[in-house]
Amino acid sequence: RERLSQYSTVQDAVNLIASSRRIIILTGAGISVSCGIPDFRSRNGLYASLKEKGEYDLDDPSKCWFDIQYFKENPSGDSFARQIYPSNFTPSPCHRFIKLIENNGQNYTQNIDTLETVVGVRNVLQCHGSFATASCLDCRIRVPGNVIEQEIMQGEVPLCKTCSDSESRRRKRGKPLDNEDEEDEPLFPPWIMKPDITFFGEKLTDNFEDSLEKDRAQADLLLIIGTSLKVAPVSDIISRSYLRVRQKILINKTPVAHINPDIILLGDADRIIEHLCTELGWTLPPAKAGQY
Ligand code: OAD
Repeated sequence: RERLSQYSTVQDAVNLIASSRRIIILTGAGISVSCGIPDFRSRNGLYASLKEKGEYDLDDPSKCWFDIQYFKENPSGDSFARQIYPSNFTPSPCHRFIKLIENNGQNYTQNIDTLETVVGVRNVLQCHGSFATASCLDCRIRVPGNVIEQEIMQGEVPLCKTCSDSESRRRKRGKPLDNEDEEDEPLFPPWIMKPDITFFGEKLTDNFEDSLEKDRAQADLLLIIGTSLKVAPVSDIISRSYLRVRQKILINKTPVAHINPDIILLGDADRIIEHLCTELGWTLPPAKAGQY
């Protein structure tokens, strides 16, 4: 409470940003909404629109394509995947702002759209992975994401070429897979290619903990932009006092009730960022359309 009364105006936010040596920017789906990618939990977000279509039991949103168990049973690239698949989106002013501060900052994003990399940001940790690569659930071979893009967009199940080839060689030699029972053959073989995004039920990459460890004592300011902070462990970055940041600023369309930042700037994130840049005398780098 004391800290809230100490810092509360836009000018305070400007001063904090200007005086910070190292800034952590934690972003979520809200920074890509203006690019045409819906967020998850807003009234017109992905979960609401899927609920309307009656495709999933979305009282529990984890029971959809983003759940690893659900995916193994229903791996076809359904409408959910197609809606969020990165195509030629143009980065927003928020993505461009991340590029602006990257020399004295680090971006942790929950987004899988890779739009910050389109602006050229290198210091980004995609906490939930991205569509940039895909891996076989069986042999773990990794391929560029565009190898499976067409199948995903057509609602087909992308399969691992390496496993399929060795299986067909095995069959030719008359050696079926262990436990293979023709009568009971599963709908899909185990070698499904899955985009390297982190599904509910999967662990985040080790890079997440490693990077936080590195940033632990170094950051002055945490800027949280466009996220409801509902999904752990990213949401825990704040509560676990993981980062010993001195100050926290929230920029979001709606309040995030369970956190207590020093400054809350409510509204459209792009407009707020543009205003802050004007006040800071900073020019945003150009936006260019592109794909991961
Ligand atoms: P959410 O949809 O939960 O939250 C997006 C937040 O952005 C909401 O609080 C909105 O009010 C806000 N917002 C929307 N448009 C905005 C705008 N123009 N300006 C400012 N704020 C805006 O999305 P995330 O918090 O990113 O996980 O969701 C976290 C995770 O939940 C996702 O990474 C995904 C999802 O399940 C996985 O896929 C594993």
